[in-house]
Amino acid sequence: MIGWVPKVLVGFLDQIAGENIRRIILEDAGLDPEATEFRLDRDVPDPACRKVIEAACARLGVTEAQAFTLFAPYFLAAARAAFPGFFRNVAGTRAFLLSQPAIHNCLAAGLRDPQRRAIADKFRVEATPGGVRVFYNSPNRLAALYVAVAHELAKSYGETVEIGFEAGDPESEKCTMSVELAPVAATTPEPAAIVA
Ligand code: HEM
Repeated sequence: MIGWVPKVLVGFLDQIAGENIRRIILEDAGLDPEATEFRLDRDVPDPACRKVIEAACARLGVTEAQAFTLFAPYFLAAARAAFPGFFRNVAGTRAFLLSQPAIHNCLAAGLRDPQRRAIADKFRVEATPGGVRVFYNSPNRLAALYVAVAHELAKSYGETVEIGFEAGDPESEKCTMSVELAPVAATTPEPAAIVA
């Protein structure tokens, strides 16, 4: 996979746990913290990213679902800061989610096959009347991260999102997610709260 996700993950661990714990987590994952540098333009084996996530959850005592809920805002903020162009003129969550596989493919353009093809195979998205349907297929088993980032993205557009699994589950290598979007309901003030 592209080294960007592990790179962002390492930045997140530095922020929430500090550099020392992050080094220990990389060691737990079987990596040499001094020799490990994740980069956007470098391929990282999928299992290495998985191992870092598992080591981080074990060391910090959180479930993956909890970890992704914490990580998603950081992930999205990092994407916005590094690639503002992908966010420009995007009308809402649905439009963004429809372009997400193309964003990944665009970032993979510098890699060679078979890595580039493996990235293209991870996500396929189709439009549905109320949102999108996502076909996920990756040994990283990160559909739960997709769910967390989609919620965060929807929040940024003032929308709410409901995600169901039509096939597989959040920990599957292969699953199909149905993503339904709705604008956040405008809150009507209670009559008693209206001051003349
Ligand atoms: C500008 C926005 C985004 C950028 C720059 C970005 C970048 C990336 C990159 C570089 C990867 C590694 C792909 C690979 O090599 O396999 C990745 C993976 C991933 N992204 Fe994105 N992404 C963006 C938006 C999103 C959104 C909106 C979602 C979810 C709603 C998302 C969910 C994921 C997930 C779940 C993975 C892990 C895939 C796997 O390895 O199984 N991304 N992203």
